[in-house]
Amino acid sequence: MDHRTNPASGSLPALSPDDAAGILARLAARHSIRDFLPRPIEPELLDAIIGDGLEAPNACNHQMWHFIVVRDQATKDQLQKISGSNEHFSSCGAIILLCFHMGWNHNKFAVVQSVAAAAYHMSLSAHLRGLGATWNAGIGNGAKIRTLVGLPAEFEVIGTLCLGWPAPEAPNLKPPRRPLETVRSYERFVRPATDCYPLAPASGGYRYTDLMNHSNKHSVFSPDRWGWDRIGNFRSYAVYAKSPLPGVYVSRRLGRELDAEVGLIGAIEPGACLVEVLPYGGSYTVRLHNRYGSAAAIHCLELSNRNLDFVRERVCREAGNDEGIHYDVMTAGRMPYADNSVDVVFLPQILEAVPERAAFLDEVARVLRPGGKVVVTVRNLLSWFGVFYFRSVSRGQVPNFGPYVPLASLLVRNELGRRFERQSEIGLTPLPNAVARASTGAMRLFSRLYGGTWIKKIEN
Ligand SMILES: Cc1cc2nc3c(=O)[nH]c(=O)nc-3n(C[C@H](O)[C@H](O)[C@H](O)COP(=O)(O)O)c2cc1C
Repeated sequence: MDHRTNPASGSLPALSPDDAAGILARLAARHSIRDFLPRPIEPELLDAIIGDGLEAPNACNHQMWHFIVVRDQATKDQLQKISGSNEHFSSCGAIILLCFHMGWNHNKFAVVQSVAAAAYHMSLSAHLRGLGATWNAGIGNGAKIRTLVGLPAEFEVIGTLCLGWPAPEAPNLKPPRRPLETVRSYERFVRPATDCYPLAPASGGYRYTDLMNHSNKHSVFSPDRWGWDRIGNFRSYAVYAKSPLPGVYVSRRLGRELDAEVGLIGAIEPGACLVEVLPYGGSYTVRLHNRYGSAAAIHCLELSNRNLDFVRERVCREAGNDEGIHYDVMTAGRMPYADNSVDVVFLPQILEAVPERAAFLDEVARVLRPGGKVVVTVRNLLSWFGVFYFRSVSRGQVPNFGPYVPLASLLVRNELGRRFERQSEIGLTPLPNAVARASTGAMRLFSRLYGGTWIKKIEN
């Protein structure tokens, strides 16, 4: 295919405003698709899409990009395994590996910018042709990919574009965008504080390579330093890093822990009001719904409706419906419930992620009815996970669900004991290879998760 023959825009008639608006609306409707039909994509169509990508602007017109198309199922499965997540690598029709030649570069990552321009152009082309696409930087170990596809040393792979025919029931939810006025300013830099995330100060300015996901010298993990508004802002956009598909955000390992945490709630009265605080992507919500169904009024309490839209979509797909679930927004740590009105407050791995923890616990005590139950788990500082957190997690960047710092079991026990009466106490995952194992003995205080149930006292 010879792309030198494509006409330049000067030789084409200008579009009418309506035609232009129609095309732009079509392009704006593009969103990442991660749910595909098991249907191959013809090489001619793939070539046409890549050919469209070659029309993108690129640095000095060197076109230092290279695109390797992988259609073979075994190789796609290998790429999925290397990525460590991204299930759609296996289920898509073709993976285009986004590569560039390192021989000619520019200090502003010009070759990377050029590949990105082509990748977006290909995404739009695929979208207009009825295919779905997801662009991915989460590709895992580049050296393994290099060996798998025979990529020479002078080329680098920086991502993939997964293409496929969308499953008819694929989520049709466009991730929300920040309002225009928060991300653009005229003449000078202006941006609301809630849309800027905290970084530890850097004396000589920030160096790009000092702020990588696995090693970030300036990340701030303290929820107090973030504050409610910025945490809410961060979570509500980041949750859309994935599609609201069943099982999203739950590894097999994590799934067993989640089940055990939900199990702590125990039996509840018919019609009871159960508040799940900060459900993020809805992993606990699905389990709560499966377990209690319409026997409980489950209130998902998040910091933004954007998060709640994701949870709603995910629960409906995974559980079949969301009957009995209510979606509520909490502002500045204030719960939208009357005093003494809630039967159960569920705080799974939440206390270590909220700012102003003492005030938040007072708020929990305010809304809980006398005799009501607070069910808590926390990532425990006094455990192997506490060591792992300080040696590894806290050296990287803040995870998409927001900042947190593990809390010592004894501190949590003390803080809860000042407001509530302890009913049960448990440790989960005492050792890394004993996932979700429960301990009520001494190890309960030194397991990865410390938790239990506490009751609001009934005044005489
Ligand atoms: C550079 C880049 C890297 C991305 N990496 C991944 C990834 O590894 N896995 C994934 O599922 N989505 C990935 N995405 C897709 C984004 O999550 C998605 O574009 C974003 O949430 C906005 O949603 P939309 O594409 O549906 O508009 C990536 C997108 C870009 C541009």
